[in-house]
Amino acid sequence: MPTSEATTTYEKSARKVFIRTFGCQMNEYDSEVMAGLFELDGWIITENESEADVIILNTCSVRQHAEDRVWGALYDLRGRAEREPNLIIGVCGCMAQGRAKDIARNCPHVRLIAGTHAFSRLPELVEETSRSGRTVVDIDASRMPRLGALPRKRKSRLKAFVPVMRGCENFCAYCVVPYVRGPEISRSADEVLSEVETLARDGCREVTLLGQNVNSYCGPRKTGGTGSVKFAELLRMIGGVNGILRIRFMTSHPKDFPDELIRAMADVPAVCEHLHLPLQSGSDRVLERMNRKYTFGSYRELVGRIRDAIPSIALSTDIIVGFPGETEEEYNRTAQAMEEIGFDSAFIFKYSDREKTRAAEFEPKVAQRGIVRRHAELLKLQERIGAEKNRGLIGARVEVLVEGYSPRNPERLFGRTRTNKRAVFEGGEDLIGTLVCVTIREVTPLTLIGDLS
Ligand code: 5AD
Ligand code: SF4
Repeated sequence: MPTSEATTTYEKSARKVFIRTFGCQMNEYDSEVMAGLFELDGWIITENESEADVIILNTCSVRQHAEDRVWGALYDLRGRAEREPNLIIGVCGCMAQGRAKDIARNCPHVRLIAGTHAFSRLPELVEETSRSGRTVVDIDASRMPRLGALPRKRKSRLKAFVPVMRGCENFCAYCVVPYVRGPEISRSADEVLSEVETLARDGCREVTLLGQNVNSYCGPRKTGGTGSVKFAELLRMIGGVNGILRIRFMTSHPKDFPDELIRAMADVPAVCEHLHLPLQSGSDRVLERMNRKYTFGSYRELVGRIRDAIPSIALSTDIIVGFPGETEEEYNRTAQAMEEIGFDSAFIFKYSDREKTRAAEFEPKVAQRGIVRRHAELLKLQERIGAEKNRGLIGARVEVLVEGYSPRNPERLFGRTRTNKRAVFEGGEDLIGTLVCVTIREVTPLTLIGDLS
């Protein structure tokens, strides 16, 4: 019946969805897939929340602060939900998975709660919500998410995230991820490869391979086939894709970093000289209580092997201050470790108790005042170390992938070096999307300023 079909299409295409992403790169990827699926179904993706018929919050649970931001956003939407009874507000991702009951209890205006395994079914779930008028909850973690070729509305043409695995089984004592994202599942190597080939044909020049612990990647060679591919081999396969100029990956766990992987990083020209290697603490006693399965000595030794093979590599890390029971002396060891390794950049986090995790039961807790002080001190320390590292680059000639005009100074172009540092310089629009060489003239703790050379 052409008439009713035409009406349905009209109604659908008139509907607008707004997706707001909190948290990590995996969430950014999932949001791009959700947007792609909605678009395929005839929806308009809007950047303007106030004109949306459907608002999706793709959430994060890794720290309390991330959840607080989502609660704040939900609170702000209450008035609008009352005025617009047809508005559909959906919460998906990690917080939906872990806190479905609390969300349903505290936020009757939320009409859809979709967990980490439901992202590829979101448009269907929205339809179900709107058809039934009920609040739909889908947090069944036993239903596998679709991992195959999914449509996706990409934010950048030049760069893309490509998940190689999902989930985590490491159970670091502080971390909620294994509880909300479930066990590790690796995608097949062929599927990852064909996704990267498609991206390259589409103009993508840089891929970042994603996983909670990419080093434990173990993907079937052919979908449903026999034999498996380890991460080092996957890097070599992706290194052969025409058009991909840069490969990055994150996150690597220091407990399993085989020499084979270091060799692949050194051998494959497209693999960038940057590694994110979370240390978390410089104290062996804290590392043990965190269940990290390495000591600072073995971490230092690993960094030595990596730097021997790839001397220009830049290292970034994650550090947690105020883990339960962390003494002043243990905290000082973390500061010493940061000095000793000399990270190019570091994310310093204040420990936050997460429900279900082992550390939530650990005592004594470090007083909040102490956590705030340690956090501020390490931020300052890293600023000094990062600035020293950057000063060492003055006069150097570095390769930059030009991403666009600098948002802060539209006279300048900006891009990233292979070592993942932000660089700004003057140049024409025609350079956007290309690799250029820049000689560094000045530096700030986070940016290199230079001239085309
Ligand atoms: N409290 C503080 N930081 C945390 N992280 C993970 N869980 C917690 C927590 N409960 C940090 C770790 C991890 C990064 C992604 O987030 O440093 O590497
Ligand atoms: Fe969390 Fe540890 Fe898994 Fe990383 S490796 S996601 S910190 S449990």
